[in-house]
Amino acid sequence: MSSEIKITLVPGDGIGPEVTHEAVVMLEAVGQWNGVKFHFVEMPIGGAAIRQQGSPLPPATLEAALDSDAVLLGAVGGNEFNLLPPDKRPEAGLLQLRQALGGFANLRPSVAYAPLSNNSPLRPEVTEGADILFVRELLGGLYFGTPRSWDRESGVALNTMLYTREEVVRVARVAFELAQKRRHKVTSVDKANVLEVSQLWRATVTEIAAEYPDVTLEHQYVDACAMHLMNTPRNFDVVLTENLFGDILSDEAAVITGSLGMLPSATIGGKVNLYEPVHGSAPDIAGTGKANPLGAILTAAMLLRHSAGLEQEAQAIETAVQRVLAAGYRTADLARTNQPNQQIVSTREMGKHVFEVLNEIIDCSQAMHAV
Ligand SMILES: NC(=O)c1ccc[n+]([C@@H]2O[C@H](COP(=O)([O-])OP(=O)(O)OC[C@H]3O[C@@H](n4cnc5c(N)ncnc54)[C@H](O)[C@@H]3O)[C@@H](O)[C@H]2O)c1
Repeated sequence: MSSEIKITLVPGDGIGPEVTHEAVVMLEAVGQWNGVKFHFVEMPIGGAAIRQQGSPLPPATLEAALDSDAVLLGAVGGNEFNLLPPDKRPEAGLLQLRQALGGFANLRPSVAYAPLSNNSPLRPEVTEGADILFVRELLGGLYFGTPRSWDRESGVALNTMLYTREEVVRVARVAFELAQKRRHKVTSVDKANVLEVSQLWRATVTEIAAEYPDVTLEHQYVDACAMHLMNTPRNFDVVLTENLFGDILSDEAAVITGSLGMLPSATIGGKVNLYEPVHGSAPDIAGTGKANPLGAILTAAMLLRHSAGLEQEAQAIETAVQRVLAAGYRTADLARTNQPNQQIVSTREMGKHVFEVLNEIIDCSQAMHAV
């Protein structure tokens, strides 16, 4: 664990700055607790950067990001930019940043928080206790494979699903190592009954599994996995899969959590890890104080876990979030008419409640150490 951690903050657009602020408050509380010094360097990205400097990813932002220990992003995008060509839009800045940082493993947890059990369209007895970590390969597969084309005249389009053994090896190791710190199970998802790429995937994952005898490996076809995720989500621990399947399955599994505003993510394995809540800039609620900051706050916990080696501190934030939900506090997206004892709060108020509980956890931990 380093005692100094340099974080480039790129809050971006819409609700990005509002939710990122709450994430930073938690990191600062953790810094005061354990003496780790967080250096925050705030830089523009997306629409904010276009307005200031005419580019969605100014060179100084990229330079700062590459020169840091971690990058914490809010969200990018806004309606006023919708008519710009794709490579000039705010989203292009984020794609360029992801590519430059080079992370190949995208981690997306999907957790069924008990107090939100009625928020999911799935029955509470199905989701109860579900805690899944998706490890999605992010730089290969159909999204990047060449050749790719769309010949409008002949009416033929083509994409290429391509993986090398090395690309599978490196992401498989990430999944097995994470499973070792969790419930020791990896479900590798492919379509090996039809696709050669999946046969390479399955053979390689099986080979790598031999290095991790304490982790159980199972294979599932992607179609069956899509069904099992909804029927028996508790049976999953780490789900390892390629780019396209991971994109689809991790969105599907997000229904377990009950709101887009709850979902954190991390992209690791490249030069610098990138942390961002899953949601976008939500222009419909930006500036109204209605944004749910918990996805961003849980993203800060992932940063502590994966870039700072601060597991206890990451868990403290996650516990604080659970306790605040259990106490009935809800941002508007989490509120349900059939729920008694819920109190609707603003973005700032939700952050304040998590901060207070986090400080209680910190005080308790310090008192234990003092005994
Ligand atoms: N990673 C990113 O930065 C990212 C991801 C997705 C979309 N976008 C961009 O964001 C803009 C809006 O896109 P969209 O509307 O399709 O997706 P979105 O995620 O911004 O919003 C979808 C819906 O969910 C709600 N929502 C999202 N996050 C919330 C939160 N934290 N709390 C409460 N409610 C929340 C929004 O109000 C909206 O109704 C677009 O410009 C899009 O390109 C950016």
